[in-house]
Amino acid sequence: MISQLLFGATLFAAAKSTLATNSSTSRPGVDCACSALLQKNPDSVLLPASATFEAQTKHFWDIRSAVIPSCMVFPSNADEVSEALTVLASCNAQFAVRGGGHMNFPGSNNIEGGVLLALNNITDMSVDEAASTIAVRPGNTWADVYGALDPYGLYTNGGRMKTVGVPGLTLIGGFHYFINKWGYTMDSVKSYDVVLGNGTQVVATSTCNSDLFWALKGGANNFGIVTKFVLQAYKVPQISTTIQSFDEASIEKFIQATSEMTINDDGQVGAGSVVSINYNVTTDVISGLLLGVQEGTESPPSRFSAYTNIPPTMQINNVTTPKVWHSDKETPNQMFRVQFAHHTVRADASARLYEIYQAWKVAVSEIKDVEGLYPTFVLNVMPKSAASVAKNNGVGNVWGLPDDESLIIWQLSTGWANAEDDLRMTAWAKNFLEYHHAINQAMGIASEFLYMGDAGEFQNPYLGFPAENVQRLRDVRSRYDPGQVFTKLNWGGFKLSI
Ligand SMILES: *[C@@H]1O[C@H](CO)[C@@H](O)[C@H](O)[C@H]1NC(C)=O
Ligand SMILES: *[C@@H]1O[C@H](CO)[C@@H](O)[C@H](O)[C@H]1NC(C)=O
Ligand SMILES: *[C@@H]1O[C@H](CO)[C@@H](O)[C@H](O)[C@H]1NC(C)=O
Ligand SMILES: *[C@@H]1O[C@H](CO)[C@@H](O)[C@H](O)[C@H]1NC(C)=O
Ligand SMILES: *[C@@H]1O[C@H](CO)[C@@H](O)[C@H](O)[C@H]1NC(C)=O
Repeated sequence: MISQLLFGATLFAAAKSTLATNSSTSRPGVDCACSALLQKNPDSVLLPASATFEAQTKHFWDIRSAVIPSCMVFPSNADEVSEALTVLASCNAQFAVRGGGHMNFPGSNNIEGGVLLALNNITDMSVDEAASTIAVRPGNTWADVYGALDPYGLYTNGGRMKTVGVPGLTLIGGFHYFINKWGYTMDSVKSYDVVLGNGTQVVATSTCNSDLFWALKGGANNFGIVTKFVLQAYKVPQISTTIQSFDEASIEKFIQATSEMTINDDGQVGAGSVVSINYNVTTDVISGLLLGVQEGTESPPSRFSAYTNIPPTMQINNVTTPKVWHSDKETPNQMFRVQFAHHTVRADASARLYEIYQAWKVAVSEIKDVEGLYPTFVLNVMPKSAASVAKNNGVGNVWGLPDDESLIIWQLSTGWANAEDDLRMTAWAKNFLEYHHAINQAMGIASEFLYMGDAGEFQNPYLGFPAENVQRLRDVRSRYDPGQVFTKLNWGGFKLSI
């Protein structure tokens, strides 16, 4: 008790002499935490009003997430993450954790007036060629990982875009081109090093802390901070790629081909896509875009044959390495305010998907006055073979998806320029989604699955997981974070409710 009081007094003194945070805007406990972190390791803390701090507040994809924390701490290893967490818990300070800074909405990986625990400086990686695995620290992006695997002719199923960070994507599930063969990113994790809320460091594998191991496969940031992922890697020295665009007259066929490709995917050959429809509100031009990637050198890649009868307005086929393919797939960092939101439907419902697309086109034309409007309709495909991986690997994952039905996520991805339009755009997306999802429910073709990486902040992905899995997550949480550090102090993304 006395030592705690003394500790508090020291902190208070330190706060007075060295802190430049704005106490009237800091959350409770935050000045205490920033002072203690500064005292322990001044070089690892950034305070407002420095150029580096300013630059770091922009290290987020969505301009909406560029908020101002009271301080940022950059631990350089797992021990320092543990020390930082101990300080945050003892000061009762609210904090956010940032890996790559990709999840878009405010509060998902940054915090106004709190502490930002940034993992970006923990970056080492090592490949074990014999085991075909790579150990990755959380400060890396997927472009870093693919670069490290490249000399060995290895590849793994991480992010599709270059700048996506490793920890965020891996903890929420993770879409890659080759989910059809390897499952989701979480399904390729062999081991996690985790710092728990009380600062204790544990390793979770299929045989050690196996309940935590399962919970980290899709259970997000409710249990601890992962400081190392060991990922399965796969021999894929070369990939065959195709980029095709289509005009508005071909959109119905484009959607049909996407549905056909998904339901016919047997998962034998690693292959997958990014499928999107863009509406340029300046020129009124609508276009479909397919990015297709397949393992091996067969060119054009045969798994996209469903599209061959549609006349493309542009087509580029290539054979290259994963490293080169990913190296120019930039995400539009700080380009706009952007919101994702979606629902999920059976993959064979192509006529209904076309109807939804047509309704989207009308809905977009009604909000054309929004400055900087950048509307995209995305189809994220989930062939049933992707769910078979978790069903058959003896571990499973939090999603618990059945593997007898292929699904398609139909997603709004909408950019705009000004904060004044935030509420209007949110209401627009929400109304559109709920209206059309209700129709799909009535038709018996809806799935309640929601993917955290593409969900709107007003959606709740936990409602789409099997209820027994959500209960199991709560049980795991009560065992590994009895102090509820990640429930009560840590903001970010989609939290498991109490
Ligand atoms: C602290 O924040 C308040 C509220 O935003 C603001 O009015 C005040 O000017 C700030 N003070 C300093 C020193 O930045
Ligand atoms: C993070 O790492 C970079 C590159 O090594 C270094 O320049 C920077 O000082 C580090 N930042 C902090 C806050 O430790
Ligand atoms: C095609 O692949 C080669 C080999 O990796 C690469 O140098 C080239 O930039 C690629 N071309 C396109 C258009 O992507
Ligand atoms: C719309 O098309 C114009 C002309 O090609 C282009 O300059 C602009 O960047 C496009 N806008 C969007 C949002 O794609
Ligand atoms: C930290 O929490 C874990 C999980 O509840 C527990 O096993 C461990 O003993 C705790 N460590 C300390 C030092 O209290």
